[in-house]
Amino acid sequence: MKTQYFTATSLDGFIATEDDSLEWLFPLGDVNDTGYPEFISKVGALAMGSATYEWMLRNSQKIAEETGASWPYAQPTWVFSSRVLPAVPGADLTFAQGDVRAVHAEMRSAAADKNIWIVGGGDLAGQFYDAGLLDELILQVGSVTLGKGKPLFPRFTPTPLSLLSARQIGTGFVELRYQIPARATKNP
Ligand SMILES: NC(=O)c1ccc[n+]([C@@H]2O[C@H](COP(=O)([O-])OP(=O)(O)OC[C@H]3O[C@@H](n4cnc5c(N)ncnc54)[C@H](OP(=O)(O)O)[C@@H]3O)[C@@H](O)[C@H]2O)c1
Repeated sequence: MKTQYFTATSLDGFIATEDDSLEWLFPLGDVNDTGYPEFISKVGALAMGSATYEWMLRNSQKIAEETGASWPYAQPTWVFSSRVLPAVPGADLTFAQGDVRAVHAEMRSAAADKNIWIVGGGDLAGQFYDAGLLDELILQVGSVTLGKGKPLFPRFTPTPLSLLSARQIGTGFVELRYQIPARATKNP
């Protein structure tokens, strides 16, 4: 069972514009051509920050048109926020805040032998990394630069990551998979 940060990013390391738009992302390719279908089949629990969750609330109609449901995940999902946010009827949601370690333990129980997906944003993934709980980064690096925006992973990784694979997806993406070295994980 792994904890994986799977996300699309611009070439210059942003996962959304400053105003949380993803409109730059969708013309780059079809998600079904990426590793996503296989990836999601092995996910047993998800975590996301409030900006990501609120993007999903704002775009629920578009999500429903594309996936058939305004909340597309069957897996239990933890949403990190210090605020009270509206729930999505029928979605398996838990709202959480503070230290990610206790939440990770709950997620691990829920996921059983499946993987944990840190959906984003970058700082939330960084909080799992800081706690030594992040095993892999899986990145769809888009053929576009944004100049500024929401950062992919605002952390210093003193021990280099290990590149496990690189795969071209048309002209719009390269999919990179990195393992986070053991010495940078499982901190006390
Ligand atoms: N390119 C992609 O594939 C991709 C993937 C994922 C997300 N995105 C997009 O990227 C953007 C990410 O936004 P973001 O960088 O602002 O990240 P985010 O993680 O979605 O949201 C950050 C917010 O979550 C809350 N939060 C985070 N950690 C917390 C903790 N430990 N305890 C309590 N609250 C916590 C805080 O807000 P409050 O406490 O104020 O609620 C924080 O400001 C969104 O627009 C999203 O749609 C893109």
